[in-house]
Amino acid sequence: MKITYYGQSCFLFEIGKNRVLFDPFISPNELASSINVDDVKADYILLSHGHQDHVHDAERIAKNNGSTIIANFEIAQWYGAKGLENLHPMNTGGKVTLPFGTVKMVNAIHSSSLPDGSYGGSAAGFVVETEDQTFYFAGDTALTYDMKLIPEQFDVDFALLPIGDNFTMDIHDAMIAADFVQVDKVIGMHFDTFPYIQIDREEVQEMAKMADKELILMEIGQTIEL
Ligand code: NI
Ligand code: MN
Repeated sequence: MKITYYGQSCFLFEIGKNRVLFDPFISPNELASSINVDDVKADYILLSHGHQDHVHDAERIAKNNGSTIIANFEIAQWYGAKGLENLHPMNTGGKVTLPFGTVKMVNAIHSSSLPDGSYGGSAAGFVVETEDQTFYFAGDTALTYDMKLIPEQFDVDFALLPIGDNFTMDIHDAMIAADFVQVDKVIGMHFDTFPYIQIDREEVQEMAKMADKELILMEIGQTIEL
């Protein structure tokens, strides 16, 4: 599968013919000024929670592409009230099988309100099991023992974990999370966008090396194949 990074926690996965976008926050992100939101193509948009830095461009991209938004019930309802029709509501613990694979909504320890202050349901992560590989997109979360449930049900190939600290796990907790999920390969996210979550790349790579993990820090606009 091909993975393109658009900054913060926004990734586009190309899985077979399906384009699956996570947590689009592009147009307000100064670090992502090279990306034109209207060029972003998505069949599905998965939203981990309601915070601005995860949903800002979801409506625009969904309208441009006719994408289906997959999110918790409250967030799906909020987009429904805006007139969007391609919505798939879920809640923590549930799963759905889609053309690109099976998506399970798993627990995240975080808050969730929508940009206008509306209730945003519970924050979540996703485990996506495709024909090819299985990955865990943690969303914004603290380290939690709930992550240990994931490898009991899935053979996870790699995980996307927040590493920016302050609002989520830092690199130390993310490396423990990688152990809980039983992965050796981690794509870092939720760093550098704001002063609160600035990281030192050398330092986090050193931590990953000490934890015996491969930490991938993608450049914005970069595409990799995993
Ligand atoms: Ni958040
Ligand atoms: Mn966030």
